[in-house]
Amino acid sequence: MASSSSLHLLVLLLAVASLILCAASSNDTGVSGTGKVYTKVCEPARFAALGLDMESFQYCNVSLPYADRVRDLIGWMTVKEKVGGLGDWTAGAPRIGLPAYKWWSEALHGLSTTGPTTRFDNLATPHLHSGTAAVYNATVFANVINSAASFNETLWKSIGQAVSTEARAMYNMGKGGLTYWSPNINVVRDPRWGRTLETPGEDPYVVGRYAVNFVRGMQDIPGHETVAAGGDPNTRPIKTSACCKHYAAYDLDDWKNHTRFKFNARVEERDMIETFQRPFEMCVRDGDVSSVMCSYNRINGVPACADSHLLSQTIRGDWQLHGYIVSDCDAVRVMTDNATWPGYSPVESSAASLKAGLDLDCGESWMKDANGKPVMDFFSTYGMDAVNMGKMRESDIDKALTNQYMTLMRLGYFDDIAQYSSLSKKDICSDEHKSLAVDGARQGMVLLKNENNLLPLDAKKVARVNVRGPHIQAPEKAMDGDYTGPPCRYVTPRQGISKFVKFSHVANTTIYFGGINLNIESEGNDREDLLLPKNQTEQIIRIAKASPNPIILVILSGGGVDVSFAQNNPKIGAILWAGYPGGEGGNAIADVIFGQYNPGGRLPLTWFKNNYINQLPMTSMELRPVPKLGYPGRTYKFYDGPEVLYPFGYGLSYTKFLYKMDANGTDVAIPVAGRHCKQLSYKPGVSASACPAINVDGHACTETIRFNVSVINSGDKGGSHPVIVFTKPPAEVDEAPIKQVVAFQRVFVHARSTVNVSFTLNVCKAFAIVEKTAYTVVPSGVSTVLVENVDSSVSFPVKINFSA
Ligand SMILES: *[C@@H]1O[C@H](CO)[C@@H](O)[C@H](O)[C@H]1NC(C)=O
Ligand SMILES: *[C@@H]1O[C@H](CO)[C@@H](O)[C@H](O)[C@H]1NC(C)=O
Ligand SMILES: *[C@@H]1O[C@H](CO)[C@@H](O)[C@H](O)[C@H]1NC(C)=O
Ligand SMILES: *[C@@H]1O[C@H](CO)[C@@H](O)[C@H](O)[C@H]1NC(C)=O
Ligand SMILES: *[C@@H]1O[C@H](CO)[C@@H](O)[C@H](O)[C@H]1NC(C)=O
Ligand SMILES: *[C@@H]1O[C@H](CO)[C@@H](O)[C@H](O)[C@H]1NC(C)=O
Ligand SMILES: *[C@@H]1O[C@H](CO)[C@@H](O)[C@H](O)[C@H]1NC(C)=O
Ligand SMILES: *[C@@H]1O[C@H](CO)[C@@H](O)[C@H](O)[C@H]1NC(C)=O
Ligand SMILES: *[C@@H]1O[C@H](CO)[C@@H](O)[C@H](O)[C@H]1NC(C)=O
Ligand SMILES: *[C@@H]1O[C@H](CO)[C@@H](O)[C@H](O)[C@H]1NC(C)=O
Ligand SMILES: *[C@@H]1O[C@H](CO)[C@@H](O)[C@H](O)[C@H]1NC(C)=O
Repeated sequence: MASSSSLHLLVLLLAVASLILCAASSNDTGVSGTGKVYTKVCEPARFAALGLDMESFQYCNVSLPYADRVRDLIGWMTVKEKVGGLGDWTAGAPRIGLPAYKWWSEALHGLSTTGPTTRFDNLATPHLHSGTAAVYNATVFANVINSAASFNETLWKSIGQAVSTEARAMYNMGKGGLTYWSPNINVVRDPRWGRTLETPGEDPYVVGRYAVNFVRGMQDIPGHETVAAGGDPNTRPIKTSACCKHYAAYDLDDWKNHTRFKFNARVEERDMIETFQRPFEMCVRDGDVSSVMCSYNRINGVPACADSHLLSQTIRGDWQLHGYIVSDCDAVRVMTDNATWPGYSPVESSAASLKAGLDLDCGESWMKDANGKPVMDFFSTYGMDAVNMGKMRESDIDKALTNQYMTLMRLGYFDDIAQYSSLSKKDICSDEHKSLAVDGARQGMVLLKNENNLLPLDAKKVARVNVRGPHIQAPEKAMDGDYTGPPCRYVTPRQGISKFVKFSHVANTTIYFGGINLNIESEGNDREDLLLPKNQTEQIIRIAKASPNPIILVILSGGGVDVSFAQNNPKIGAILWAGYPGGEGGNAIADVIFGQYNPGGRLPLTWFKNNYINQLPMTSMELRPVPKLGYPGRTYKFYDGPEVLYPFGYGLSYTKFLYKMDANGTDVAIPVAGRHCKQLSYKPGVSASACPAINVDGHACTETIRFNVSVINSGDKGGSHPVIVFTKPPAEVDEAPIKQVVAFQRVFVHARSTVNVSFTLNVCKAFAIVEKTAYTVVPSGVSTVLVENVDSSVSFPVKINFSA
């Protein structure tokens, strides 16, 4: 969010600002204005305290449709009040009963202190909000990259549900808002990206499914998951508002002085459709998210937040967003201040962004300029000038405010939502949420090496262990990752281990806790290499050599780490990737090491050897190889060369899962009208068929393929296992992905038993590829359905042809 120039300052200011604010007011979040915390705007006593009669404001009339109420509200507002409503920290309009509202809250993997809205009490000033209980902590779930490794959609949704429950409880106590700018669903295009930990990895479909589930968990109210036929999706009530960010082609923070603020991503349309936009499209269409955030960077010269094609035409038009579009914080400011849009004045940047479809401008309102004046967002700062100069239309302002207030209406900001109004402190850090946090962290653990079944350790036999390494007492930062709040409970790896065994410096079992931390990978900070710090590597090798028995290496990191030195070292018997596992992380790690939980996580992104990054700059956006520059392809979809250390989907278990499929092949004939046929790029020497491919958009494709995968647990330990289904396009198609994920399902299989997992693939979704022309097409020819893991691989061909 925050610009890197201001990041350090911001951290300082945050501490100071929260003290000042704590002391100054008790009404700075939620519905305020009279010194009392209300859970809704339309409360007669609130109006009365303002000297107003609520009945004279139709926007509080619950008999009217939301659209009419919002129209009434905006109708009351002066142009100045409207402009004041365009930034993230709004002043409201007390004369008409409209309170201040702060839009910026974060909940990436639990309620976060990032942004000015979510306010935990502070031990120094425990009675910050008079009349409500003090709340110091919230549940901190594992980071998103961990949760992604579980490949468990139920988990992703459950986390969203738990977080939104804690959010509504905070709101009821006047300590939080209703609009959350999470999740972060940018695809990890390059292994150096500093924000990898915040994301669900490198596969656009998996990232998209994460988005859909987390958003539905945050937003959906039971019974209101969909609207009835003929109903208006713009009025579907929601629990909290989620936001898919950062749209689009944003996955570089600061690499060799290329910063996200100034970066001009040169992106082919094919990559936009296939990779950069795909998770956003799924988030909007399938998740029905109520907000999308545009990013700092430019795309082919145009700032993302001022691109009407990306905003109005694509998100709002093609994908039918029901909600509002917000800028990344200061994204409009950098267009001018940092000259990312040469020649555009503050007024012009603001006017162009609003016109392009941006509804809300986040600016760093808690910052003060050199004269001590608050630095506000550009829209509310320059909006009046823009209107007066005839560059901004009031009707465009009305449209933006309508999108905002419709979202607040759906959230019950005006009327409350009965089933959430009694949520309170007891619903934060509840036992249920804490156990979901441990369970989630365990589900995401990925076992990378386990020679001679070194793991799990038998606590009774081992009795004592020698623990070493910088992450034994991992500071919260290293466990919790970023965008976090103070956790309910904090369990270090050492504390987790101590529940099973005692420690001894002369014990023969040594466990090393290494990895990297947020000084190496974080927002505003891309990685220089994929290695562990040099002295850590040396220390691990030294300890392994001196140890009589092979050691266990636990790696904490968001992105992949080149641990080739450990992969091939016989004295390093096991490698466990723990990600950044959150407040309960130490428990989760210990449960896996001592066999209380059988690890089933699979890598949601390729782990590369360090040499990979010497072969291409981070600024090259192409996913496919660029032969003329010698760049290899990116992600498992376009690279499977020698620099892969552990491939996408890699992960061991304490048992073996074998697959069986009885499908030996399927023919699909799809009748098409000739006009739906599209070109297909073939490899040299292959001749095109009469109808090489069909355009998915033009075709109401209902053909499906059903099959069962029998998952056989051949060992004597039960465990969960994600079954990942890939498809491979016909071999003769040029520049196609090597393979791509089209479905996945995590299942539990008891020891020595079999579970059948049923899959139904829609032919137009599962076998589609994106052509050079940027059309999404289904190619004719023989595609392959492939299900594989470290121990097993099964596949069957699917022959598709199009008949006139
Ligand atoms: C907070 O409440 C006080 C009265 O208690 C009022 O004067 C002030 O305007 C309120 N502030 C906001 C931002 O609503
Ligand atoms: C609320 O709206 C309904 C429907 O238009 C109307 O009949 C009613 O009089 C309104 N209530 C008030 C208090 O204005
Ligand atoms: C980045 O910029 C700084 C300051 O302008 C300069 O000292 C440094 O050499 C640059 N680094 C690279 C990798 O270009
Ligand atoms: C953007 O511009 C502002 C104002 O000129 C400056 O303070 C800041 O350092 C710049 N940020 C970047 C990332 O260039
Ligand atoms: C809970 O919050 C309090 C107050 O911020 C903090 O002192 C404490 O360390 C937090 N608890 C944990 C386990 O981090
Ligand atoms: C460590 O291993 C050595 C050799 O295998 C053995 O002699 C020794 O007793 C072990 N020490 C402990 C503390 O288990
Ligand atoms: C590696 O070196 C850094 C910087 O000198 C130091 O902070 C860190 O503790 C060292 N780590 C290990 C594992 O020795
Ligand atoms: C499970 O799937 C296999 C094919 O893979 C099939 O032969 C078997 O009948 C199925 N079992 C059940 C219980 O459905
Ligand atoms: C599977 O193979 C058998 C024997 O080759 C064949 O008779 C059968 O039609 C095939 N089934 C499918 C679905 O292709
Ligand atoms: C998926 O996650 C849910 C929620 O945490 C959990 O109850 C379930 O056991 C998990 N499924 C598997 C197969 O691990
Ligand atoms: C697939 O498995 C389900 C049970 O999980 C079973 O009902 C169905 O008959 C199986 N289908 C095939 C083709 O084996």
